[in-house]
Amino acid sequence: MSAPTESATAQLALPGIEEGAEVEWTWAEDESDDMMPTSFVHVTVMRAEVVAAMAPVPGGVYVDATLGGGGHAEAILEAEPEARLIGLDRDPVALEAAGQRLARFGDRVRLVHTTFGRVERALEEIGQAPVQGVYADLGVSSPQLDAAERGMSFRREGPIDMRMDQTSGETALELMDRLDDDELANVIFRYGDERRSRRIARSIKKALEEGELATTLDLRRAIVRAVGPVRVGGVDPATRTFQALRIAVNREVEELEALLEGLPAVVAPSGHAAIISFHSLEDRLVKQAFKGDDAWHVVTKRPLVPSDDEGAQNVRARSAKLRVARRAGED
Ligand SMILES: C[S@@+](CC[C@H](N)C(=O)[O-])C[C@H]1O[C@@H](n2cnc3c(N)ncnc32)[C@H](O)[C@@H]1O
Repeated sequence: MSAPTESATAQLALPGIEEGAEVEWTWAEDESDDMMPTSFVHVTVMRAEVVAAMAPVPGGVYVDATLGGGGHAEAILEAEPEARLIGLDRDPVALEAAGQRLARFGDRVRLVHTTFGRVERALEEIGQAPVQGVYADLGVSSPQLDAAERGMSFRREGPIDMRMDQTSGETALELMDRLDDDELANVIFRYGDERRSRRIARSIKKALEEGELATTLDLRRAIVRAVGPVRVGGVDPATRTFQALRIAVNREVEELEALLEGLPAVVAPSGHAAIISFHSLEDRLVKQAFKGDDAWHVVTKRPLVPSDDEGAQNVRARSAKLRVARRAGED
């Protein structure tokens, strides 16, 4: 599939999304944030709702597929003193930080460095499947987004990396170098819903050829050169392209598809799966997976959303949607 012309308005198919479906994006970058350096602080979204969805029982084992700062994990472990938790994350820095936060729970916690697309294999390897619940809080954490050296933010100068796991895989710079103009435009259009994708891709490739693309600010400059500096709907002109590149670099859609495919095999009958997503593409994948599979009873006919209070306190929470399903069998 190729990128549309600048004037095209048709939606293109995405992995797992039917062609023609409307894709609505929301942006995680907090525009009001200042430029202070950040420690590993991530405000947990829908904390109480995730605990309620897991309904932890004594002796139950729960998998946090996106451990991050360990906020949800801590809530589960506190809610049921005899529950155990397995935390997965692809980011070794997150595992380290969460490990410190959860140290007080001792051997009730086990951390695994893996992608959640490999959840089935990871649990098999440690002899822990099936479990009573699995939940995921998708996307990136605030520390990942804010750390200049990770290259995910267009407001902080850093290398054009964007990997959640900086120990493996291709960086965004390497990806842009490898793709030709059309392929790059496709990525920007598909994952950023950016209609000016062709112009932006051409400008990026030109900057690369001229040796002018080393940092995130260079990348933003190349984007602005293509589309101008005007913010549309309060959104920086670089936002969509940065988000698209991050999704492609981390194979976020493919990872979610693999997680959803693996869940029925790892959740025990009557156990629960809960997923918080932050844009409509992810939410649609989750909805389809729970609804279209006899393995699940849908618990949330409509997705749960954060309270007004939580939304007022945490910009990132405003676009969160939580869907919950119960594993069929042994009712
Ligand atoms: C939004 S944060 C989770 C925050 C956590 N729930 C908390 O309350 O502190 C998402 C985390 O998921 C991780 N992550 C994203 N995609 C992943 C994947 N495919 N496999 C494993 N971890 C992933 C990121 O590295 C990040 O640490």
